[in-house]
Amino acid sequence: MKILGIETSCDETAAAVVEDGRKILSNVVVSQIDIFAEYGGVIPEVAARSHLEVMMPVVEKALLEARASWDEIDAIAVTHAPGLLGSLLIGTLTARTLAILHDKPLYAVHHLKSHVYANWLELKHFPAFPLLALVVSGGHTQILYMPEHDKFEIVGTTNDDAVGECFDKVAKILGLPYPGGPAIAEAAESGDVEKYKLPHPKVADLDFSFSGLKTAVLRAVQKELGLPISHPSYDLKNFLSAKQVADFAASFQKTAIEILTKKIKAGVSEFPEVRSVVVAGGVSANDELRKIFSGLAEAGKIPAVFFPEAKLSGDNGAMVAAAAYYEILAGVQPMDPYKLNIYPRVSVEE
Ligand code: KG4
Ligand code: ZN
Repeated sequence: MKILGIETSCDETAAAVVEDGRKILSNVVVSQIDIFAEYGGVIPEVAARSHLEVMMPVVEKALLEARASWDEIDAIAVTHAPGLLGSLLIGTLTARTLAILHDKPLYAVHHLKSHVYANWLELKHFPAFPLLALVVSGGHTQILYMPEHDKFEIVGTTNDDAVGECFDKVAKILGLPYPGGPAIAEAAESGDVEKYKLPHPKVADLDFSFSGLKTAVLRAVQKELGLPISHPSYDLKNFLSAKQVADFAASFQKTAIEILTKKIKAGVSEFPEVRSVVVAGGVSANDELRKIFSGLAEAGKIPAVFFPEAKLSGDNGAMVAAAAYYEILAGVQPMDPYKLNIYPRVSVEE
């Protein structure tokens, strides 16, 4: 079964053709990072307009690279939520129109589910159920319990910021470019992880909090520079040396990963029956996180751990197609393309 997956939830316009939920026939991603690096973050209106410009060329390229004609496409899948409203609208309107034009079943897929299913792409050995999925992206930080395909229970979530958002905000304080995750990871390579002691949030159960960590970095930078807390955060970067930036990046990254590690270990003790841990979302590209989680699995402290291929950690259409494939296997019915609404996953009542 060949599925065309479309993803436009944030600042990537993406389309892919995936066969049987795992074989990637094409995966086209046009990123708007260059535009938003200049602003230090995503501007929703600009993102939506950029999606509009490249959406159809991206879909056409995905079909061309997959060498698939419309006749060979069995279904269309699209991210319907969560994400930036204007961005989601471009993807869903495109998918609805294509589904009507080409008479294809349409599946509206939740973005976090897609991130989880990036872990089934291009794999020979699949994660075993039941499993815990740690979803770490720019907008979410959650632990999901998955007893089987297409069944999710949120067992932990952030009370405030997402971990990716925290990477992005700390990067901004340090004067590193957007997106902050890769920039922090790179700066951290030459930094001292022990240089600045940053606190762990006190959050019950499997929940998270990252806004305090961001503020803790801000205060530590102000203290290091001997500047008052009233000093504007956007100006601090002008006083930091490269060594200080590297040390802050390393200390912050270490703390963020420690928090995630603590929670996944707590998750595994709470659900001792889990047979695998899958990590998903943009932050799952982080090499240190991969190293530490793989080490824990090797030491038998957590079950087998899975990460998507680094290029599939961020937003892409292949994961959307993979998630839709498992929805179809689970018996989920297609959406009515004339009625599909975004937010929430129901049709608009007439
Ligand atoms: O999943 P994603 O592409 O978009 C959302 O659904 O939010 O995640 C984007 C997030 C950004 O916050 C970005 O800074 C972070 O993933 N990220 C990373 C790395 N690469 C991307 N965070 C830490 N280390 C990385 N290597
Ligand atoms: Zn995402």
